[in-house]
Amino acid sequence: MRRLKIIKPSATLRISALAKELLKEGKPVVNMSAGEPDFKTPQHIVESAINALNEGKHFYTPTRGIPELLDAIAEKVNVENGIPAKPENVIVTPGAKYAIFLAMQVLLDEGDEVILLDPAWVSYEANVIMANSKPVWVKHDEKFEDAPIEDHITSKTKMIVINTPNNPTGVVYSKDFLKKVADLSIDHNVYVLSDEIYEKIIYEGEHYSIASFEGMFERTITINGFSKTYSMTGWRLGYAIACEEIIRDMNKIQSHSVSHPTSFVQYAGLTALKGDQSCVEEMVRKFRRRRDKILSGLNEIGISYIYPKGAFYVFMKVGDGTEFAERFLKEEFVAVTPGEAFGSYREYVRVSYATSDENVDEFLSRLDGFVKRFKCQVLSFGNDLKSRDYGDLNG
Ligand SMILES: Cc1ncc(COP(=O)(O)O)c(C=O)c1O
Repeated sequence: MRRLKIIKPSATLRISALAKELLKEGKPVVNMSAGEPDFKTPQHIVESAINALNEGKHFYTPTRGIPELLDAIAEKVNVENGIPAKPENVIVTPGAKYAIFLAMQVLLDEGDEVILLDPAWVSYEANVIMANSKPVWVKHDEKFEDAPIEDHITSKTKMIVINTPNNPTGVVYSKDFLKKVADLSIDHNVYVLSDEIYEKIIYEGEHYSIASFEGMFERTITINGFSKTYSMTGWRLGYAIACEEIIRDMNKIQSHSVSHPTSFVQYAGLTALKGDQSCVEEMVRKFRRRRDKILSGLNEIGISYIYPKGAFYVFMKVGDGTEFAERFLKEEFVAVTPGEAFGSYREYVRVSYATSDENVDEFLSRLDGFVKRFKCQVLSFGNDLKSRDYGDLNG
């Protein structure tokens, strides 16, 4: 298929393949590239999945999800996010990623344009292309807290994708910026897909859900999930909140593709939402400690970075990020993700601190030695993604 040729295998895969090879050779690889918490899923959540299985809850479920979980999610977003959702406005999916896929399949038509803020998480672009539409990249301002979206809206713009807290920058968008996005969405009649999967992993600032803003509920698809908050990446459980019509259409595709997320995983998700939240606080406390350690280490070494207020990444400026990532891995056996994986910021690499404290210490000590050899001069590569050729995507 033509559009599949445009979707590039992610730059992350090249690094992780190389890391695996080095591990096989017995090298002391430190992996700072994975976007998943290193903690075990909290025990009460694990037990509820086991109990569900023992109780025979292993049959097909309603395709949109078990009613108890839809109720719990609707209640959660009302109370915590100020989103006026009823259970009919919820669909649970095998991971947030599939919710994003479904939303784009449902809302995007051939030739539509979707605004992505550069840099952005790796899968938005691919999902836009899989929906036969065209990604329009808009660079952030120099603080990565705002972006001139207004200059890039055309009559073909159908959706703006935002992600707060942000992967890969760790930025938590301000209420003012989100208000600007909301106003643009209303004025130009475009949807907003708001990926809030890191909402609980915040160290400074406050999380706002754009769907709670006046006039935004009908035009927002809020994406969230259990992977990051409850360390449940492999369980595959996420959800979307939107108006009934969109949810009904998403459910149509889900029902004919994966049917629904695994039955006993949904019961575990229910326990995660309804149960004691101290496990989340404990994980966030640990993430914060690691973040603080990394930031003071980078300050000492003299590497600049975007100040992360949330998620578990540091986007640091190193010169040629691609060369840096390859050499750091080959010479010091430390895996980080080159900035090119996320858009046009080739002079950056993303470091994930969703890994052990020992790895964080080891990363900093190897980094110190490495940067003395690697010239971390700040270069501008001017590789603007707007120049990427999506021209005949639908041709
Ligand atoms: C910004 C963002 N959205 C969505 C996802 C996907 O999450 P899930 O595991 O629920 O599919 C990730 C995972 O890395 C992510 O970083």
